[in-house]
Amino acid sequence: MTQRNTTPVPRKIPFEFPDDINPQWIPGRNELAAMINGGSLTMPYLEPFLIRTMREAAEQVCDTRVKADADAFNRQEGQHFRAHRRFNDLLKRKRYPQLADVEDQMEASYARLSKRSLRARMAYTAGFEAMTMGVTKWLIGKRIGLFRNADPRVVSFVLWHMVEETEHKTVAHDVYKALYGSSLGAYWARMVGVFHGSLDVIKFSMRGYRSILKQDGVWTNFRARLRLAREMAGFVWNVGPYLFRAALPGHDPRNEPDEPWVLEWLAAYPDSNPDDPPLVDTGHPTMPVPFAPAKTMQAAA
Ligand SMILES: [Fe+2]
Ligand SMILES: [Fe+2]
Repeated sequence: MTQRNTTPVPRKIPFEFPDDINPQWIPGRNELAAMINGGSLTMPYLEPFLIRTMREAAEQVCDTRVKADADAFNRQEGQHFRAHRRFNDLLKRKRYPQLADVEDQMEASYARLSKRSLRARMAYTAGFEAMTMGVTKWLIGKRIGLFRNADPRVVSFVLWHMVEETEHKTVAHDVYKALYGSSLGAYWARMVGVFHGSLDVIKFSMRGYRSILKQDGVWTNFRARLRLAREMAGFVWNVGPYLFRAALPGHDPRNEPDEPWVLEWLAAYPDSNPDDPPLVDTGHPTMPVPFAPAKTMQAAA
């Protein structure tokens, strides 16, 4: 698999979330939709924190390449949380206004976290970013099984986010290494950050999906709990190994192979129309990258 080694490209993609989107947007898998909606809820709180942390850290970095990558990282994350905020507004407006309580908890939590040392915040940032590689393997690598006939407007938005997470997967790690090096103390703090960043976001995502499933009236339903457990097992099975490897000394995100679908998406995007959201065909047996075949072939030629 080819690894990219270029500066990430900020893209402003006009994803829209009109009122006809069902918050249960995956047919027959309401628990999976609730889990992903819960994750989405965290983004407008998590990602601004990552941006503030990276901005502060990058000011102290001398390497111009790392600085440029950090700037591109921030611009990508800025687009992500704005799109997630629009989607989350739809969720609250249509069926789940009580999610605002979880948002209040996150606002307070990130305000507290912002008072920690820059090293602890950068370790959290790099640690969370390590988890996104596992989430990408889960959501993009298993897209055919997870998203069959799901609403393409939501699937395409979720997968775009994971494509760009792959594109900037090395940046937070590089900033951390540029500032703190590879000493035992720096490794220890980074390793703690892998679990701190990941488990903190998982905790708030779980509060989000619990609130959603309570509102749906299935939180205490045995069958719904079994389905939820199966979806959670899929998450842990795919993401767990990434967290384990990220916690080891000498970890480098460059050593994690990229999903071929991600590389196809990135190669085809420049020839697409930037005014059209790239919609994945969720009824297609292979769910190919969301660009017209002719354009994809031109890009490859
Ligand atoms: Fe992001
Ligand atoms: Fe990211």
